[in-house]
Amino acid sequence: MPEALDKNDRLMTAKTRDEDAEAERSIRPRTLKNYIGQEPIKVSLTIYLQAALCRRDPLDHILLYGPPGLGKTTLANIIAAEMGRNIRVTSGPAIERPGDLASILTNLSAGDVLFIDEIHRMPRVVEEVLYPAMEDFGLDIMIGKGPTAKSIRLDLPKFTLVGATTRAGLLTAPLRDRFGIMFRLELYTHEELCVILTNASKALSVRADPDGVAEIARRSRGTPRIANRLLRRVRDYAQVVARGVITQPIAQDALSLQAIDELGLDRVDRAMLEAMITKFSGGPVGLETLAAATSEDPGTIEDVYEPYLMQMGFIARTPRGRVALPAAYRHMGLAQPETDKLAEQDIKPGEQLSLPL
Ligand SMILES: Nc1ncnc2c1ncn2[C@@H]1O[C@H](COP(=O)(O)OP(=O)(O)O)[C@@H](O)[C@H]1O
Ligand SMILES: [Mg+2]
Repeated sequence: MPEALDKNDRLMTAKTRDEDAEAERSIRPRTLKNYIGQEPIKVSLTIYLQAALCRRDPLDHILLYGPPGLGKTTLANIIAAEMGRNIRVTSGPAIERPGDLASILTNLSAGDVLFIDEIHRMPRVVEEVLYPAMEDFGLDIMIGKGPTAKSIRLDLPKFTLVGATTRAGLLTAPLRDRFGIMFRLELYTHEELCVILTNASKALSVRADPDGVAEIARRSRGTPRIANRLLRRVRDYAQVVARGVITQPIAQDALSLQAIDELGLDRVDRAMLEAMITKFSGGPVGLETLAAATSEDPGTIEDVYEPYLMQMGFIARTPRGRVALPAAYRHMGLAQPETDKLAEQDIKPGEQLSLPL
């Protein structure tokens, strides 16, 4: 559900959603060269791509994981384009029955990329069809029923599966083990977001000066999708009040109007920090409790809100739950109790529990 999970989406009308989908297509990078940041991934991928092209083999299956909006779908499309192959796009929840997957697989051509978004949401019975397909490019079909039933194996064309998920920890071990390559996408740096925004404003023919771009980048939570969306909202504002030019004050005003603060935190982020500090004396507080206190979905908190708050050093995950760090008290303008100052010494900003993978 990454699209639906994206909190800003909920506030959007159907009209802006359509316009934004159109704009999204025009600014989405199509080559590895135009894909900004994620340097370690690009370095490895370039090598794997060259090797596969030399051998005239398809690439090994690839799992892309990381928070929504960091470029998983974009990268899957680029992989197919760089291989000079077609991409077939589907998603975990869309493949309801084993037969659905069988028909997708048998319709692939040799070398095609099959992209399964939200692969962790694929039903278990479907997943089992995928194992032999990934491993041996085979499809087992049962003929007949009961004691006389027998299974025959169909050969499939050699394809590359690209799976995307917001949380690799939700994948079953057998599925995860069948990916030869796993890439974890990271939040983007300020400089990378500035480049992405500069390119996007050119594609949208929006005039933005470097300070204006930097202001939007600072409030984009390290996420290109959010950066591009804020750019479009600031553009609208600039058109109405500033003859279309995005400057720093214009960006500031436009984004404050959307209740996005100078570090990119929105109402939900701030409600979370405030609840942690005022209702649970800074924590530790469990995910479910925090979700209940803020009327948010625990999965959304984990996928969408926490990665950025952790990166900013506002919260940490500890074995006993989430805790608010001094930076969060400062940002919220709330006083930190003396006792917490002692406890905080064991927890470093950005520290988190090690998750599977
Ligand atoms: N590395 C990147 N360089 C430039 N733009 C990017 C990059 N990654 C993502 N984007 C932009 O952000 C948007 C969201 O990316 P997307 O691939 O849909 O994210 P995900 O599938 O991880 O949720 C894309 O439409 C694209 O315009
Ligand atoms: Mg996606």
